[in-house]
Amino acid sequence: MHTELQTLLVDPPCVNNMPLLKQQQQQLPLDLPVIHNLPIQQVIEEKIESVSILKWESDQENAFFVADIGEVYRQHLRWKSLLPRIEPFFAIKSNPDPMVVRLLAAIGIGFDCASKSEIQQVLSLGVEPERIIYANPCKQASFIRYASQHNVAKMTFDNAEELHKIKMLYPNAELVLRILTDDSKSLCQLGLKFGAPLEEVPSLLQTAKDLDLNVIGISFHVGSGCLDENAFADAVVRARWAFDQGEKLGFKFDLLDVGGGFPGADVQDGITFEKVAAILGPAVDTMFPSNVRVIAEPGRYYVASAFTACTHVIGRRTVKAENQTQYMYYVNDGMYGSFNCILFDHQVVYPTVLTQGGKKYYEKKQDNDETFTSSIWGPTCDSIDCLAKEAKLPVLDDGDWIKWDNMGAYTICAASQFNGFRQSEIIYTNTFQ
Ligand SMILES: Cc1ncc(COP(=O)(O)O)c(C=O)c1O
Repeated sequence: MHTELQTLLVDPPCVNNMPLLKQQQQQLPLDLPVIHNLPIQQVIEEKIESVSILKWESDQENAFFVADIGEVYRQHLRWKSLLPRIEPFFAIKSNPDPMVVRLLAAIGIGFDCASKSEIQQVLSLGVEPERIIYANPCKQASFIRYASQHNVAKMTFDNAEELHKIKMLYPNAELVLRILTDDSKSLCQLGLKFGAPLEEVPSLLQTAKDLDLNVIGISFHVGSGCLDENAFADAVVRARWAFDQGEKLGFKFDLLDVGGGFPGADVQDGITFEKVAAILGPAVDTMFPSNVRVIAEPGRYYVASAFTACTHVIGRRTVKAENQTQYMYYVNDGMYGSFNCILFDHQVVYPTVLTQGGKKYYEKKQDNDETFTSSIWGPTCDSIDCLAKEAKLPVLDDGDWIKWDNMGAYTICAASQFNGFRQSEIIYTNTFQ
């Protein structure tokens, strides 16, 4: 099995029955990774079984990810069927993984870029500049110049100073005014930093008019990890009001950008994508005529459920607490690596045992095993580096493996190399049939 996996990893990429990805595959450079056509669990098992303590291969037990490109594609199909009018512009900041971005470029969606290097990454794949929105309301001057040189015209703003800067650097830009919405029900409240309050909208638009700038529409962001679908409808009402202010000043707005904040496929309770679509779709249709183009900037939605992390138990400490035995486990990716989402994105992550005492746990019944209160820690020397404080787990040994689902959004992209730990390897598969 080990050899088979090795062979797959060094062979030229093999791609599946996803027609658009197939077409694009023909242009792929040879150094791109293989995409397997195996279930995620099988990829994980083969990888784990390829690790042998007898071989002492360098770094063989490093933590790794399995990325399911097919899950990203399934999320795209779900979007098209539930929000057909709204064009997704993938927020690349959530996961700039080259294979994810390649797939989304190939299927023709747009991109929300926050910086020059994100714009460069997308342009380098042959994406037309019209398919990009530079959705960062405060931009570095030289990045605006770069956008101008590459005809990336759509960009957001939320303050008068930015308008003066854009007038100087890119007077023909197509500007989108980002308004403030109620993001109090979101895990990451972006309104603390960006978004013009409604009372400032008329004066900002007047400034744009005085500077002879081209404002083409309105955008908002209800906050990332939004927990209330009604926030989207409320924001659409605000956007309608802002549109009307623009029309009063003689602007002809024809773009509404409903931002990000959409839940990933992992979210089953509370706010689901279905619930958001059932509110947002009709709200947009009721308040905006069909000549208004409607786009969105989903990030988490596309990638959260597509990435699974697997970590290796590199240490165990037995703790006696109130006559109870508890365990502390140390694994080889953590809060300063891919699990930074716990700190920055307010995520709660859940461990699943893959092997126990070197035996395949996934082939055993888990119900009968005695479990102990356990905490799981990352590999650095810092005590903030804790992934789970009170998990109930069977006794694990050094060398066992733990899996973490839904690790695709705001994880790898913000991982540091603190304490000298490298970013986890990514193995690609495609489960789309
Ligand atoms: C401007 C902008 N658009 C889109 C997103 C993506 O948000 P989400 O991943 O919640 O969809 C973000 C996230 O920070 C953002 O800042």
